[in-house]
Amino acid sequence: MCGIIGILGKSDTTPKLVSALKRLEYRGYDSAGIALIGAEGMDIRRATGKLAELEAVLEAAPVSGLCGIGHTRWATHGAPTKANAHPHRAGPVAVVHNGIIENFRPLREELIAKGRVFLSETDSEVVAQLCADFLEQGLSPEAAVAASLARFEGAFALAYLFEGEDDLMIAARRGSPLAIGHGEGEMYIGSDAMALSGVTDRITYLDEGDWAVLHRNSYQVFDALGNPVNRPETKVNLEAMAVDKGNHRHFMTKEIFEQPSVMALALSRYLSPDHGAVHIPEGAPDFSRFDRLVLVACGTAFYACHVAKYWFEQIARIPVEIDVASEFRYRAPPIGPRDAVILVSQSGETADTLAALRYVKGKAGQVIAIINAPESSIAREADLALPIKAGVEVSVASSKAFTCQLAVFAVLAILAARQRGELDEQGEKSLIDKLVSVPRLMDEALKAEPAMIDAARELAKARDILFLGRGPLYPLALEGALKLKELSYIHAEGYASGELKHGPIALIDDLVPVICFAPVDALFDKTVSNMQEVMARGGKVLLVSDATGIKRAADGTWAQIEMPNCDPFIAPIVYAIPAQLLAYHTATEKGTDVDQPRNLAKSVTVE
Ligand code: F6R
Repeated sequence: MCGIIGILGKSDTTPKLVSALKRLEYRGYDSAGIALIGAEGMDIRRATGKLAELEAVLEAAPVSGLCGIGHTRWATHGAPTKANAHPHRAGPVAVVHNGIIENFRPLREELIAKGRVFLSETDSEVVAQLCADFLEQGLSPEAAVAASLARFEGAFALAYLFEGEDDLMIAARRGSPLAIGHGEGEMYIGSDAMALSGVTDRITYLDEGDWAVLHRNSYQVFDALGNPVNRPETKVNLEAMAVDKGNHRHFMTKEIFEQPSVMALALSRYLSPDHGAVHIPEGAPDFSRFDRLVLVACGTAFYACHVAKYWFEQIARIPVEIDVASEFRYRAPPIGPRDAVILVSQSGETADTLAALRYVKGKAGQVIAIINAPESSIAREADLALPIKAGVEVSVASSKAFTCQLAVFAVLAILAARQRGELDEQGEKSLIDKLVSVPRLMDEALKAEPAMIDAARELAKARDILFLGRGPLYPLALEGALKLKELSYIHAEGYASGELKHGPIALIDDLVPVICFAPVDALFDKTVSNMQEVMARGGKVLLVSDATGIKRAADGTWAQIEMPNCDPFIAPIVYAIPAQLLAYHTATEKGTDVDQPRNLAKSVTVE
């Protein structure tokens, strides 16, 4: 999940490389670097840490050149040191790599035995070294890259630059995304359209296994077998990619506060103009022909699947299996034509989710993707791709993508219930009415921010925090804990409220805050009993509920956060707001890097 960029330009490319890397920094920020072919030959500049460090290096020791490659790293093999930063150079070759070369050890040993000297601990350096070795054997750059690609196992997006060749760049992809950008007498490659959005809106996506030879005025794509192929050029909407923080201090708050409006957009896309029925513009899946749904994703997107399981089972009476993609893909689950598989991904590039998609393709009755990035690999490879319309999500921790994923799931559950005879027209209309009220309710939930800021001041002092929820609020407890961990670095766990007494209650003392998501629903009293069990052991409970719930159960709690009254169907979407804002304010209280938490990256294209 590193980010790569390459430019064959008409003027100095250094500033363009740096600004493209800024747009790619969400993919990793352990180190960054660029390589350029200038008047004096090839030059490389690298720095550990965020891009600002590379900018400082470039200011102290400027470089220029008409063609160059750049990289922002999320470390896999080797610590985030300067030696391990990309580009890696071997002889006349410089390479940037996103992915993992799984067989790098035997290749490295083979090349060391031939006398080649490695300078880093990375898997990526082997790409440059192997290519240099083939060049020394007399192969052309094109032939050397083709011969190298045949030796690699694993996933990669690569860009190669060659000393002495200032009108040549070679790119290749297998498993990791890569796109060619077309300019006027310039040519680019980048990890995604976002990277290229500063230079062009004309993009050609490489298919799995493709590699391409680029010159300023021409290019040729080859498939995995080396056959020349044509891949279509598409125009991307640059406006949709223009992102700034507005009046917010962080992208994270901007994205949290954007939710009422993007939620309205997402919902209206999937409802008839009179909001009387579900309408899927791409063509509705037929849930009556399936016996089971299998929902697969990673992280926050997986918790959206977890909420959806309750909806599909309760409203549409269809059995649902859920799994995280990294487990699903390797456990060889039986999948058949009467299963529909739904993959969920904000980026549409998550390696494990993509692999899960490829596993079920051809086995399942239908493969549906719920994605935010419409041109992503997962969107393109699914039978049916349903965009969530959240807009670009920049903050590494997901917020608005989660609630928009829930919006799409909710309309699918209503659709499935109708198709399976579990809901009549009136019932459909009534659930849609509830959904349509979500943006307004989210807006109200956001108004409880001052109480969340107060609570966060105390939460920031804790070493461990527990989250509890029941039914569809259980996944929200998991999501609240995940958000808190990744933003504030405080250890947190989410539990089903009834599960606490089966072990985790041993953790309770007056130093461990317990956050209870408890809207007044059919299970409210049971959750209150679980809260009592915590308080009886000295636990500090933060109750997140509506006015009725707070009136009934606030006694003895440490603090309360009041949510608007909402129907249990939509409560998991509305309660996402306190899950996100509590984490956000705890993190700002602690002074952590909210938009780019340590060790994380937005797009996880390695498994
Ligand atoms: C957490 C978070 C991650 C992602 C996960 C999947 O805040 O953002 O857990 O949800 O990495 O990413 P996508 O949705 O791009 O597949």
